[in-house]
Amino acid sequence: MIEPQPVTVTINGARVHRFVEPRVSLADFLRRDLGLTGTHLGCEVGACGACIVNLDGQPVHACLMLAVQADGMRIDTIEGLSDSGELAELQAAFHARNALQCGFCTPGILVVARDFLRDCRASGRRPTRAAIRDALSGNYCRCTGYEAIVDAIESVAGAAPMREDAA
Ligand code: FES
Ligand code: FES
Repeated sequence: MIEPQPVTVTINGARVHRFVEPRVSLADFLRRDLGLTGTHLGCEVGACGACIVNLDGQPVHACLMLAVQADGMRIDTIEGLSDSGELAELQAAFHARNALQCGFCTPGILVVARDFLRDCRASGRRPTRAAIRDALSGNYCRCTGYEAIVDAIESVAGAAPMREDAA
């Protein structure tokens, strides 16, 4: 057996130090070692997006990355983003528009949508529905047909002063 390696990460604002076997994925580390089960595991091959977390400001598939590769980095999971209130607008919009059914895909979609809207706001650009769908192209939802999810994200985008994207 390969010896566990030291890993230090900042997770949802808290510094965490653990010894982790090198073969353990970031998703398993979050879920099993840290109890952050809001990061879901669907396909475990990078196709469904259920495991997406924010790593140093960018969405990444936690199933495709080893925990040891995250050493020294900042990770924000659905739990931290939710507790900090950063997702409040999106969560309210998803609730108002029934943009979820089983909810399995929802954490990954919220992480992606939050980063997408942050980037849109930074550039002063209001996204089209096509751009929203494109942003969600790595997130599978088996229940909703996406229409209500796009409605919810579009409504949050529309609440901020941004210029319209060309269609
Ligand atoms: S579990 Fe990571 S993309 Fe499906
Ligand atoms: S709400 Fe069930 S997979 Fe999206």
